[in-house]
This record gives sequence, structure tokens and C-alpha cells, in this order.
Amino acid sequence: MKDIKTIGVLTSGGDSPGMNAAIRAVTRSAIFAGWKVYGIYRGWEGLINGEIKELTNESVSSTIQRGGTILKTARSDEFRTPEGRTKAYEHLRKYKIDALIVLGGNGSLSGAQELAREHEIAIVGLPGTIDNDLYGTDYTIGYDTALNTIMDCVDKIRDTATSHDRIFFVEVMGRDAGFLAQNSAIAAGAEAAIIPEANTDIDQLASFIGRGIRKSKNSSIVLVSEKDGGAMHYAERVRAEYPQYDVRVSILGHLQRGGSPSAFDRILASRMGVAAIEALKEGQRNIMIGIKDDTIVYIPISKAVKIDKPIDSELRNVLDILST
Ligand code: F6P
Repeated sequence: MKDIKTIGVLTSGGDSPGMNAAIRAVTRSAIFAGWKVYGIYRGWEGLINGEIKELTNESVSSTIQRGGTILKTARSDEFRTPEGRTKAYEHLRKYKIDALIVLGGNGSLSGAQELAREHEIAIVGLPGTIDNDLYGTDYTIGYDTALNTIMDCVDKIRDTATSHDRIFFVEVMGRDAGFLAQNSAIAAGAEAAIIPEANTDIDQLASFIGRGIRKSKNSSIVLVSEKDGGAMHYAERVRAEYPQYDVRVSILGHLQRGGSPSAFDRILASRMGVAAIEALKEGQRNIMIGIKDDTIVYIPISKAVKIDKPIDSELRNVLDILST
């Protein structure tokens, strides 16, 4: 196995709060190990185009508190092709990069896996996504901050919902996963969460809302995952079948991805960034860093991106009981 002297770090796909804390941790611990660090800008797209600059300890100072990613990010169609990945690999060779730290979600890590399958490059993935949908880790970097952002928004929506006796369908991100909807519903005391992992039919929904009304609450909040038509779809159906309800929709959108990372995300990102360098030093290759029961773990990237991460049924139960 080749000794590592130089690494590259990139962020790819949707940004998430805490990515900068992870870049900082990777950079500083690699320099501490005596390695050279290159920042690759705009994700895979930037690697294809050679947007590469050396990072120093100073380049990452005053970044731990900043949302977004100082390395920028992109979604790259070209990298999905073998030709695109070959172009990307040529830049890794040009800069003598022995290992690549990839910070991103499912799509970004799947791309990393393909690159490592076709070319000789050591990869370590860091789970960076607000969706929390990567198998093998209890938390992804950015999820906690997004959850708190959603909770704050729903608290505000509740004020107006209560004043007007309205039912609000609040749509949140998560792509194919319901972690954000499910857990923000618990945190904000909502009546229900509609998530892709559970089938919710319209009668069930009416019974959730009816519960609220029976409790003499004339307003209700339902968190809805963005998949399958999202909040608009359910709002329209409730409007059509239960015209007695005054229904509104609020789609939170990209504000969920922004903002200064929470303490939890800053610490998680710092731990994972340091762990990525430790893993390379130990000779680990093609793994993703995860956290399980507050302990750092290594998961083969192939597992992290292929296996569906289940939603804990205990959480469904908590929401069910507390919203009655
Ligand atoms: O994966 C992160 C995420 O924010 C998803 O929750 C969402 O579906 C998607 O990215 C939105 O992507 P874009 O910013 O490209 O519209």
C-alpha cells in the first residue's frame, strides 16, 4: 500500500452546515501528520476542471462557525460518466494526490466508490448531508442544525396557525428519507409526520387532524417529507375531502440547508474530520466515517450508499403517543 504524502478534500452535492468544520479538521489534522493538503473546488466538477489549490492552517481559520462550504459544491453530470472520472483522476495524478476525502451525501459517495473502482486512489468518505440518510452512522453532518432550523420555523408557524384556527402542512427536505420530518414533528409537537418510510392514507391523516380538534385545539401542524408530491398533495386532498378545515401550506425549502452549524454538528464534523486522517494512517481505504453510540466507526462505502437506513419504530411510537 502506497504511503500517503498528499491528500485532496472536496465537498459535493447539497451543502450542509458543518461542512466547513469538517474541512478545517481534515486540513489541520493532515498538516499535523506532515501531509500536504489540496482543496478541490466545486466538487467533482472542479476535480474534472482542475480547480485545485493548496490549503494551509490559515486557509481554514474562522470557518468553524460558517454555514455552507468554503470549497463550494456542485452536482456533476460529467462525473457520472467513465470519461469524466478519468479526467478527474488525471488531475489527482497531476497534483500527486494519494488519497481523497469526500464530504457529501449518497450521490457524492457513490461517485467516490466508482472512482476508486476504476482508478488507483484511496478514498475516505465523510457523511455530509442534512438528510441523515446514510447507513452505518447515527448522524450525518448538518442534520442536527437543519432539524433545529425546522423546529424554529414550525414554532413560528404554530403562532399563526393557532391565531387563525388553521391546519398547516409544512414541507421539509430529506429526499427519500423521513428523518427530518419525523423528528422535527416530535421536537415541534406536531400532530403528525408524513414520511416515505410509512404509508399515510388520507383517512389516517384525517384522524390525526381529528385528534387535534377533539383536544379542542382548532389548529394542527403536519410535517410532510418532500417526496411524492409533498405538502401540496396532502393539502389538496384534505381540502377536497374535508372542506370544513382551513388549510395552508408552507414549504421551507433551502433555508433548511443554511445557517451557522449547531455545537453538535461542529463537534461531530471535527471528530469525523480527524478520524478520516487517522483512518488513512491506519491503512483504511474506501470507507465512510460514521458515528454509532457516540463512537467513531468505519463503514465500507459500498454499504453506506446501498443499504437503506431504517427509521426507528420507537420514534414513530413517540410521535403517535404524544400527539393523541
Ligand atoms: O440532499 C440534500 C438535499 O437538500 C435534499 O434534502 C433535497 O432533496 C436536495 O438536496 C435539493 O437539492 P438542490 O439544492 O440541488 O435543489
